[in-house]
Amino acid sequence: MIIVIDGPAGSGKSSTARAIADRLDIEYLDSGALYRTATLIYLEANRDKETFFRLLNQKNISFYYEDQKFHVAVDGESVTNKIRTGEVTKSVSEVAALPRVRSFVNNLMRDVVLDGIYIAEGRDLGTAVFPDAELKFFMSADLEERAKRRLSERRKNNPGLTLEEVKQNIAERDLKDSKRQADPLKKADDAIEIDTTNLSFEQQVDKICLEIREILKETE
Ligand code: CDP
Repeated sequence: MIIVIDGPAGSGKSSTARAIADRLDIEYLDSGALYRTATLIYLEANRDKETFFRLLNQKNISFYYEDQKFHVAVDGESVTNKIRTGEVTKSVSEVAALPRVRSFVNNLMRDVVLDGIYIAEGRDLGTAVFPDAELKFFMSADLEERAKRRLSERRKNNPGLTLEEVKQNIAERDLKDSKRQADPLKKADDAIEIDTTNLSFEQQVDKICLEIREILKETE
């Protein structure tokens, strides 16, 4: 069974999905982390597309969720922290726009959700990857609010970071993600929209959990 949450950067998808996975004891899948991993390989290939696609097919990418963290390894070596650097964040939307990268990541995800109950989050999961998902959510929030949240998350590791920088980065990524040809960021017609601008974290988790519990009851 698969439940999906899509939405723009900083809307709270990832922290919410992790809290739900813990509360309901289900699996969590972070599609953005897989695009970030592809981006790391792209940077390793010095942005040469031929080398990049060759490496992407050769490398063994594995992932799992544990202790509130989505862990990713490439050929057995953890890249969990490396995929969160500013360098990767700056290039990820460009790499994620490549149709070959999208089908690579989609195949990784479709294979893994065959067993168990998953909550997955991303940009196009309800529209392109899992159009038949049991339940779909689309999380949104004002740009200003999203930038503030992202800044407080990132400031610990990056004390010089400013609100303007974060705002610019997420606005640029949102634009690229929404305008790209291949599976753009878009609310699925049958997704439940959750605007989190004025919701507390607990409120947004409760709201989504309530809907999921109903579905889980129905399928029991
Ligand atoms: O957490 P954050 O909002 O920074 O982004 P992420 O979920 O880690 O995703 C990073 C990037 O991957 C996004 O800006 C998109 O360009 C891309 N992505 C995508 O194209 N499709 C998805 N299903 C998930 C992420």
